[in-house]
Amino acid sequence: MITHASYGVEPWCLRENVLNLDVLPQSESVFALSNGHVGWRGNLDEGEPHGLPGSYLNGVHELHPLPYAEAGYGYPESGQTVINVTNGKVIRLLVDDEPFDLRYGRLVSHERVLDLREGVLRRTCEWTSPAGRTVRVRSTRLVSFTQRSVAAVAYEVEAVDSEVRVVVQSELVANEQLPTSPKDPRAAAVLESPLAPEEHFAGGRRLRLVHATRRSGLRVGAAADHTVDGPDRTRSSSESGDDIARLTVTSVLEPGQRLRLEKFVAYGWSSTRSLPAVSDQVDAALAAATDAGWPALVAEQRAYLDAFWSHADVEVDGDEGIQQAVRFALFHVLQAGARAEQRAIPAKGLTGSGYDGHAFWDTETFVLPLLTYTSPDAVAEALRWRHSTLPAARERAAQLGLRGAAFPWRTIEGSEGSAYWPAGTAAFHVNADIADAVVRYVSATGDGQFARDTGGELLVETARLWRSLGHHDVHGAFHIDGVTGPDEYSAIADDNTYTNLMARSNLLAAAEFVESHPEQAAALGVDEEESAAWRDAAEAVHIPYNDDLGVHEQHTGFTRYQHWDFAATRPDQYPLMLHFPYFDLYRKQVIKQADLVLAMYTCPGFFDEEQLARNFAYYEPLTVRDSSLSACGQAIIAARSGHLGLAYDYVVEAALMDLDDLENNTRDGLHIASLAGTWTALVAGFGGMRQDADTLAFTPRLPQNLSRIAFNVQVLGRCLRVEVHATAVTYTLLAGPELSISHYGEPLVLAADESRSREIPDVRPRPTPDQPPHRRPNAHR
Ligand code: BGC
Repeated sequence: MITHASYGVEPWCLRENVLNLDVLPQSESVFALSNGHVGWRGNLDEGEPHGLPGSYLNGVHELHPLPYAEAGYGYPESGQTVINVTNGKVIRLLVDDEPFDLRYGRLVSHERVLDLREGVLRRTCEWTSPAGRTVRVRSTRLVSFTQRSVAAVAYEVEAVDSEVRVVVQSELVANEQLPTSPKDPRAAAVLESPLAPEEHFAGGRRLRLVHATRRSGLRVGAAADHTVDGPDRTRSSSESGDDIARLTVTSVLEPGQRLRLEKFVAYGWSSTRSLPAVSDQVDAALAAATDAGWPALVAEQRAYLDAFWSHADVEVDGDEGIQQAVRFALFHVLQAGARAEQRAIPAKGLTGSGYDGHAFWDTETFVLPLLTYTSPDAVAEALRWRHSTLPAARERAAQLGLRGAAFPWRTIEGSEGSAYWPAGTAAFHVNADIADAVVRYVSATGDGQFARDTGGELLVETARLWRSLGHHDVHGAFHIDGVTGPDEYSAIADDNTYTNLMARSNLLAAAEFVESHPEQAAALGVDEEESAAWRDAAEAVHIPYNDDLGVHEQHTGFTRYQHWDFAATRPDQYPLMLHFPYFDLYRKQVIKQADLVLAMYTCPGFFDEEQLARNFAYYEPLTVRDSSLSACGQAIIAARSGHLGLAYDYVVEAALMDLDDLENNTRDGLHIASLAGTWTALVAGFGGMRQDADTLAFTPRLPQNLSRIAFNVQVLGRCLRVEVHATAVTYTLLAGPELSISHYGEPLVLAADESRSREIPDVRPRPTPDQPPHRRPNAHR
């Protein structure tokens, strides 16, 4: 955990003004730049020191065999791992014979700023070499939102007080040596030299490397071009080898003189295109970037982000740290998804190799809600990616003896990548999570074309899965037995409430789709009997309830289990999965992450206010939050059950997950779901926003720590602004025609440009539930 104030609190940027090498790996994640297609960790320009060098291309992975001591039928045989592709960031510097390396000499000053409006990472530093020569280095780096394959760096070195001879080496480097990964299952399996060289080129100021992965059969190209501006004695040359291509620039700088390099890098990859085609592809992308030039790339980046912020910003008064954190969160979630274009959005985005670069239910349940209301096109693309993996999901369902499609628990290319089936294959809820994202996207955008060509098929194939996975008992009740819900400290349980409620919504949504789209239904082979069976199952879904306690059970029998011995568990024994066997966690009442509590957010219509409060009070003292996905769900339900102070503490925890490295693994990449959850906790928690069929419903309420929040959302082609104060809220339709919403159940119709204000009802006081010892939310700011 980062215990010192690493970053200054400012509304629109993240500033680090001292370089602390102890937290370099974390800061590389925090300062990562990406557009969802290309990702560059915030490594120092000169490459070393580093925590984890990282350059990623969404979808580029290698396969490796999954070893089992005891194999079984249907175990996935091949694992997938994201690989570190060709590094185009490296710019090394030699100052009068001494490598510019911050571990030596004297670092006079060092500042890095991630600018959330400009979309660039700026670095300024002054360094005196061991031989006493002082230089100032400035760099600005971007990964372009507008030119999807392109990243660029503007790099300047200046002599400060004496003449210096400088050599700048701008490189493309493949197969960088990586540090071995810690023994944490959440880190990546490091593959050594994953790229086989196919082509290298250097000519003038242009460089190119093309490699291929050894097993997954992907071809990866990177090309770079440069502009160089320096005093008269500036010369350059270039050379290339299998794994390196380099432009070397030499110059002699008088005090105050600068050498400036602009480096444009283009990436491309393919599983089908030939070597010449991939070479041409990266050269062409590079030509577009150099033709635009550095100032235009910077201006396009700013314009792209201005448009994003104008309809996605969240303003927070009363806590500057949360203000900064929510913008940081929005920025990184946008980076993860903006240009992913029919590729997955991994749990770490493209900020690190944690979880092997896999995408989980995190995408549909945590990331897509934010993007639905701020950047809906990215949602359609993410769901089109799921759709493109339907063949693998159908094959998996067939292998498991089921109908329809069984989407993978974790994956890069669509096949199941989890070697641990109790918390992998058995976590079938991912299918309903995908369906839920489809329904939300279509309700929020009215995108009928998407519903017809993509969404409907996802609903139908997942409904088929549920109907074949569950069964009606002799009384007619529909059960889904032997599955794992969101809480990974329970597994292979019967009738997990979250799963059953989500499956119910999935079955009903599919039935509604086939009724409203008879042609598509016929094309998908759905007849009336099949959709009637979905409705029957949905209406008969069994939801386990403990009458004595008056609470819903997380799964059948859960509330009968022995309680975990929290009093005997030391603070250093969390996360529990790294210190206790799963077998013991599975048979006790202890919850890794919001499960039933999450169901109360995703299926709100099923729980009335009293039930919600009782369930929350029961599950809070059992929930240890060993997953970063938990705090935001708990924040929302705490807010909805009137525990506003507690909700605020959870918002703080979700918001600071990476900025303060609360789980000690930010080095592996950012927790994109938790970042997205910060937004959701504010908007769905304190804003009380929920999608009720085709309308947005609001039940806003602020904690004492905040005096105002204001957020903009995009819905049905309109832009709606919601401004919440302590006692009143104002809804304003900023753009688009008339819109119906609701405020605490009261329908409101907003005309174009109209604002309407409403009072906020008082909270009904209730005793605040406890958390397990040592697991209170981390509200240390
Ligand atoms: C959580 C899962 C999550 C995964 C990736 C695990 O620790 O329990 O719910 O999908 O991390 O973020």
